[in-house]
Amino acid sequence: MAQTISIQAALDLIKDGDHIVAGMAAAEGKALFGALHTIAPRVKHVTIDNCLPLSPYPFMLDEAYKNTFTIHSWFFSGDLRKAYHHGNIHFIPNHLHFAGVKRLDFLKPDLYIGNATPPDEHGYVSLSLGNVYEKRMIQQAKTVILEINPKLPRTFGDMEVHVSDIDYMVEVDYDVPVLPDTEPNEKDLAIGQHIASYIHDGDTLQLGIGAIPNAVAYALKDKKDLGVHTEMLTTGFMKLYQQGVITNKKKTLHPGKMVAAFALGTRELYDFLNDNPGILLLDGNYVNDPSVIAKNDHQVSINTTLQVDLAGQCASESIGSVQYSGTGGQTDTATGAQKAKGGRSFIALYSTAMVKNEKGERTETSKIVPQLLQGAFVSLSRNDVDHIVTEYGVAELRGTSVDERARRLIQVAHPKFRDELTEQAKKLGFF
Ligand code: COA
Repeated sequence: MAQTISIQAALDLIKDGDHIVAGMAAAEGKALFGALHTIAPRVKHVTIDNCLPLSPYPFMLDEAYKNTFTIHSWFFSGDLRKAYHHGNIHFIPNHLHFAGVKRLDFLKPDLYIGNATPPDEHGYVSLSLGNVYEKRMIQQAKTVILEINPKLPRTFGDMEVHVSDIDYMVEVDYDVPVLPDTEPNEKDLAIGQHIASYIHDGDTLQLGIGAIPNAVAYALKDKKDLGVHTEMLTTGFMKLYQQGVITNKKKTLHPGKMVAAFALGTRELYDFLNDNPGILLLDGNYVNDPSVIAKNDHQVSINTTLQVDLAGQCASESIGSVQYSGTGGQTDTATGAQKAKGGRSFIALYSTAMVKNEKGERTETSKIVPQLLQGAFVSLSRNDVDHIVTEYGVAELRGTSVDERARRLIQVAHPKFRDELTEQAKKLGFF
């Protein structure tokens, strides 16, 4: 049965050479990771697997700890990007639905550190905001330490863990990390309108991470009976539900329920999730499996990218060879949606980005390019791309040849780059 211990006693359990797996994003053990650096004088070669860490932990950010802690990450956050040059942070390539499964084929964790709600009267805690890989890690880790936080929402699906399966509990009451809701700008609204014209009443949606997918939700307020089967449950989905747009009634898999693998958003979202039997948070290996996604008729996937080339390859997680975020479920959800009866997938991006040149000045550059930056990692292959959307419209690429898709992509590029892109496409032999 789980023993309740202090933060210090929990840190004392970590030994030389231990491999720790952290819960993802808001499912992270914020108190323990916030104090992890304090054991640096006593331990050597501790490794941590994490995924979208949301807090500025000294063990990650302070170069003084780079020889003690090595970090492997499935999805970089701003803090990991900042500290990457220290040399102790390494990316783990993966499709989200395989994240936990394949890592466990490679190694077994010594410790799992995450968070959960206080136990209910039957002795079950809820893993609350994340089950991308968390529960299967709990089942495999030698030692399980959960921070028990009454501010976490109790969620349903496959989130329950009995106290007999937990080794140690640490009582905390910090505020749960949030992702603020941003107002869409003019470009977001234009992209949202373009995508909305392709969404039909009764469709089931997946919205990805980033500013644009959240803005798309704003454009859907006049739709009816939408459903949700998504990797990440967002504030945008909550608002659509509250507006009566999402009913989940027409879903062919888990009708009547919103399905997701993790949730990240505002405090209002967490309150909405609390004790809400209409929401199923299930294992990411199930939720994001393309063959499971495909069981939802009329499934629509909407994600974003950083750069797309004229053949339709999407570099969504790196700028050149510099890792920016992660593949997450981009391929899972795009291919799953396209396998579904009546399914569609969209990759939305602004036509341009402001990028620093050699002089350090910001200049406007096209995000639709003849060739990806050298070393860029492709998150969605040209074979799997379907629609590409910018503020200038929608390029329907499904089934097209390279010359046709290059033409269609140039039509949605920023007008000031279209001639140059056409010239480059000719040089590459596309036309
Ligand atoms: N060249 C250089 N810099 C670029 C660029 C390009 N082609 N495109 C964007 N950038 C810069 C932006 O200017 C911005 O810089 P800033 O922070 O200094 O303003 C930064 O990169 C981020 O771009 P932005 O478009 O604001 O990103 P976002 O926060 O909306 O996130 C992704 C977009 C692509 C990073 C994010 O959606 C992602 O990681 N996707 C892959 C995973 C995924 O889709 N999973 C699916 C299910 S959750």
